[in-house]
Amino acid sequence: MRGTFIVLEGGEGAGKGAVRKFLETEFPDAVFTREPGGTPLAEKIRAVMISPEATNANAQTQMALVFASRLEHVRAKILPALQAGKAVISERFDSSTYAYQIHGQEAPYLKPLFTEFRKLLGETVPDLYIFLDVDAAVGLTRVIVNKKKEPSRTTVQSDREPLDHFEKRSLAFHERVRMGYAEFFKTVPHVIVDASRPLEVVQSEVSAIIRKCIRL
Ligand code: TMP
Repeated sequence: MRGTFIVLEGGEGAGKGAVRKFLETEFPDAVFTREPGGTPLAEKIRAVMISPEATNANAQTQMALVFASRLEHVRAKILPALQAGKAVISERFDSSTYAYQIHGQEAPYLKPLFTEFRKLLGETVPDLYIFLDVDAAVGLTRVIVNKKKEPSRTTVQSDREPLDHFEKRSLAFHERVRMGYAEFFKTVPHVIVDASRPLEVVQSEVSAIIRKCIRL
């Protein structure tokens, strides 16, 4: 029997990483992955996408890059795992493209291209999207505070992880991203989780949602 495909979504600072870590211990048999990335080739595309050189790339370039990574991710990792009957939990998926490229980057003219790219995913359609929803200003503040705490993984000179070009964008950009998610989720099976609450509460709520979904 095909496994269940669940997407964990949220804007910057929604807590996806911390929730995913908790879920890894709760669901040791599930395959955890992320976008952009998830396979060696897709991770290379991720590095390009979030690099400073990509800061001024327009929405269509970003969309082409992210779908290239997604198609590889689906082919090499997600689909084989689902076919093997495993549950797959991905941090971000096509919902992020709708939110960031079409809404954040203000490119509604890309909706037809988005639809065409999605067709290439074939039957690899998520069974459920779980959206960690938090006010954009609250999320961005969390990102800044957390990055100040973390030692840098990329430079020896600096003691803090630099923000990538998405994280550096304006509050208005991130508010558009949140509205983009709201629009996208009208069209797919989803659950919205209030991620402004304490992390432990959010973690156990998401865990309960997944437990129910995997059992179905
Ligand atoms: P992360 O925040 O989960 O590490 O993801 C890296 C960035 O990639 C994030 O700022 C949002 C961006 N992104 C898009 O712009 N479009 C997409 O389709 C995906 C999956 C991510």
